[in-house]
Amino acid sequence: DHQREQRIKDIYALLEDASAYYQQQLREHPNKATAVNYLKDRGLTGQIAARFGIGYAPPGWDNLLKKLAKDDATKQRLEQAGMLINKEDTDRFYDRFRERIMFPIRDSRGRVIAFGGRVLGDEKPKYLNSPETDTFHKGRELYGLYEARKFNQKLDRLIIVEGYMDVVGLAQYGINYAVATLGTATSAQHLDRIFRTVQEVIFCFDGDAAGRKAAKRALDTTLPVITDGKQARFLFLPEGEDPDSLVRIEGNEAFEKRLNEALPLSDFFFKTLEEGADMTSLDGRARYSNQALPMIDEMQPGILKQMMQEKISDLTGLSLEQLSSVNNLQEATAV
Ligand code: UTP
Ligand code: MN
Ligand code: MN
Ligand code: MN
Ligand code: MN
Repeated sequence: DHQREQRIKDIYALLEDASAYYQQQLREHPNKATAVNYLKDRGLTGQIAARFGIGYAPPGWDNLLKKLAKDDATKQRLEQAGMLINKEDTDRFYDRFRERIMFPIRDSRGRVIAFGGRVLGDEKPKYLNSPETDTFHKGRELYGLYEARKFNQKLDRLIIVEGYMDVVGLAQYGINYAVATLGTATSAQHLDRIFRTVQEVIFCFDGDAAGRKAAKRALDTTLPVITDGKQARFLFLPEGEDPDSLVRIEGNEAFEKRLNEALPLSDFFFKTLEEGADMTSLDGRARYSNQALPMIDEMQPGILKQMMQEKISDLTGLSLEQLSSVNNLQEATAV
């Protein structure tokens, strides 16, 4: 156990060293112009790049290895940190991240725990992330949360976006409170962390089919955990845009306006259910209620839950007592 503690300490130190190395390469590598121009083309200033610790992993298989892995034990550590890959059936190692723009992922204390790396061109995969390690658990971490809190100690809301560049691009336009899940769905753990920091979360995924699907999943995850006093809203972007691309087109004010007009959770909930439902017939309204009630049932007790139940009651003409007895009956027969 003491050994494990020491290992984890070593890993944090190596990740910090790696981050410093990538940032240094962005300033000093002979090819730095490719990386710097890439960032400039994406509208980023040096100031924002520095705030997020953005760096550059140069081309080559062993740059980080040569820089940091002085002995076999350190190689092992760097592999455990997700930075080196062990060549199968050999004792040889090579750099995981090569010729990429590097985004360090920090935990809530500001320690580097992982990286995301983006190619400079159109190669695949576009983004490469650190694997799960002793220090990095994807389902928990939020990219940009440390930076947002550091920038503004009195945060009142957070935006959840899909990608690194959405977080950084929004910050470039003065919207300094976006965080990204790391290629995973929004988890209850993410929401727990967010609601311990702020009262309000706005989901703002890409304006494409995947983004809309992510919003529906976020709705399912949020419903059971939202409590009175907390607020969740959804901002849907025009087809083909993501937060980064849209804020570059529209600027800060127009984007903030969209944020302020984002759809409240309950509106999104009912709107989603209404899609394809026939609300003109009793049968359609019964089906709709039958779908809605079990989901509302999972919510924490409170005013919002009650108001959503009332809405179903208005729609069906059944009292809350009648609805709850139907729901109980359904639960009993479902067993
Ligand atoms: P997107 O696919 O929306 O990125 O993935 P994008 O907006 O096109 O990227 P840019 O703007 O060209 O740079 C959003 C997020 O999903 C994860 C990354 O976290 C990324 O930021 N992702 C995406 C991966 O992990 N791997 C991938 O290959 C692609
Ligand atoms: Mn662990
Ligand atoms: Mn997308
Ligand atoms: Mn993008
Ligand atoms: Mn995107």
